This record gives sequence, structure tokens and C-alpha cells, in this order.
Amino acid sequence: MNQEFYIQGQVALITGGNVGIGRITAIELAKKGFKVVIAGRSLERTQAVLDHIKSLGVDEQAIFLPLDLASLASVRECAQLFLQLNLPLHLLVNNAGVAGLRGLTKDGFEMTFGVNHLGHFLLTQLLLEKMQSSGLSRIVTVSSRAHKRTAGIDWDALCQPTRSWTGIHEYAVSKLANLLFSAELAKRVKGTSISTYSLHPGVVDTEIWRALPNWARPLLRLRGFLTPEEGALTTLHCAMHAPHQESGLYYADSKPMQPAALGQNSELAAELWRRSEAWVKQTNESNPRSKGN
Ligand SMILES: NC(=O)c1ccc[n+]([C@@H]2O[C@H](COP(=O)([O-])OP(=O)(O)OC[C@H]3O[C@@H](n4cnc5c(N)ncnc54)[C@H](OP(=O)(O)O)[C@@H]3O)[C@@H](O)[C@H]2O)c1
Repeated sequence: MNQEFYIQGQVALITGGNVGIGRITAIELAKKGFKVVIAGRSLERTQAVLDHIKSLGVDEQAIFLPLDLASLASVRECAQLFLQLNLPLHLLVNNAGVAGLRGLTKDGFEMTFGVNHLGHFLLTQLLLEKMQSSGLSRIVTVSSRAHKRTAGIDWDALCQPTRSWTGIHEYAVSKLANLLFSAELAKRVKGTSISTYSLHPGVVDTEIWRALPNWARPLLRLRGFLTPEEGALTTLHCAMHAPHQESGLYYADSKPMQPAALGQNSELAAELWRRSEAWVKQTNESNPRSKGN
């Protein structure tokens, strides 16, 4: 399976496709003939991308679905709405992310972990069966080389408000979780038509840095920002070109890259999966709005 994966009319769902790397990913996928579904917090803030895709004159118009990854009930509703569209699903891009936010999600998880990992974990779970029935399909999760900046996962801290002042430590943990999730998922879908990849997009000039303190942005600029167009290239590579047999790998610069030692720790990946499963189950049981989804 080294050939290009996509064919005209395949369906892609991308989280956070209104700005930054996700916006370019959505537009480029539409140009390649994907029917693009953008899941995000605001139709108003996504309208310009939907209009842009329409203006390309492509066959398939993009669709918006409401999704707030800081609420697992919203994740369940989004998956339900997607399933009601009665479309196949060939590509899921877990792209949305926050950095530097502090606090708790609606379900009581540390904000950055909840949005970046747990929301995507549940969304993927709820769409997996649909992907399995859609033929060859893939899941691309946008992680970061920031995953290297943590010495481990403090499980208790994930159920408490953000502890660090900048939120950077929690961001690193969430991006390690993205990577471990993708690796563990690859094991669990091995032998099926699904493959899965995680990636570092580069250091990209996007809105992700908006919550960081003012002094931090010039430091990042010094390190050399990529444009969002450049930053979307590895996501697009994983979405359309990465070989099926490289499922589970972590990519950077459109090539497989060795993650930090913790990112290769299969016991940690299995433990994260087990806990994530229990957490989303627990919130489903305690939230009658979400029951039955
Ligand atoms: N930029 C970089 O240098 C860099 C480096 C490494 C990894 N990454 C990763 O790349 C991915 C894309 O980030 P970006 O740089 O393109 O940042 P961005 O421009 O800030 O885009 C982030 C996207 O996530 C969405 N989002 C945030 N919170 C959400 C929530 N609770 N529910 C649903 N959607 C939510 C945002 O929607 P709203 O408009 O509603 O906020 C936006 O569409 C992230 O996973 C990030 O961690 C970025």
C-alpha cells in the first residue's frame, strides 16, 4: 500500500478546521476531492473556510458539525450527528488543540489534556466502527515534539485544574498522550483496514500561541515559525501518502521519526488507553444527555 491512499469522493472529518494547520488541511483535502466535514466550536468562525472550499468549484461541498472537545457530551453529539449524515468515513484528522489554557473541562479533566487527548479519544472510539465499515481508512492525530518535554504522566493531575503557570507542562503531557494513543490504537486495529499516524507539524505561526504569556511568543519567533501551509504538509502526507504498514508511527517532516523514550513505552500507552476508556465511560454513565450514544 505505498500508493496514494485517497480517491475522489472519500470523506474526511477534521477537528478544528477553521484556522491554522486545520484550515489548510481542510482546504487541501477538498482540493484533492475529499468531502470535508469540519467539526469545531463555531459555524460563524468556520464559514470563511466553507465559503473558500465552495469557491474552489470542487464537486463536494464542506459540511460543519458543532464540536466542543472540552465537553464529552458535545463529542458524543458530534459523533451522533456525523453518523446521521449516513456517509462513510475514510479519514479522521484529530487536529484541534489548545496550549496555555488553564482550568478544567466540563467533565472535570485538566483543560489541555481533556481537549487535546480525551475529547479526541472519545471521538475516535465513536467513529471507529463507521471507519471499519468504510474500507481503507486512516486516523491522523496531530501531536507535537513538545511530547519530549515531560518526564511522565501524573494521572492524578489529569483530573485537577492546570497546575503550571504557563500550561506548557500540561501541553507536553497532552501531546505525549496524542502520540501514545495513536501507537496503541495501531495495535488495536492491526489487521483491519484502518491505519493510524501521529505527527509533529513543525513550529507553526498559528493561533495556538494566543494563550501564552506575551514574553513567550518572541522566543518562539526566534526559533523560526513555519507558515500554516508548511505546517500542514506532514498532516497531509499522513492523510494521503503514508504507507499502511507504517501504521502507529510518529512522523515529522513527512517522514517517520523516533519519538522520545516515553513515546515508545507500550505499557504507558496501554495504561493511558485503559484510563481514558474508564474516564469516558464514567462520564457517559453520569450524564443522562449522553446515554445511549
Ligand atoms: N502551531 C504549532 O507550532 C504547533 C506545533 C506542534 C503541534 N501543533 C498542533 O497542531 C494542531 C493544530 O494547531 P494550530 O497550530 O493550527 O492552532 P490553532 O490555529 O490555534 O488551531 C487550533 C484549532 O483547535 C480548535 N479548538 C480549540 N479548542 C477546541 C475545543 N475545545 N473544541 C473544538 N475545537 C477546539 C480551534 O478552534 P477555535 O477557533 O474555536 O478556538 C482551532 O480550530 C494542535 O493539535 C496543536 O497542538 C501545533
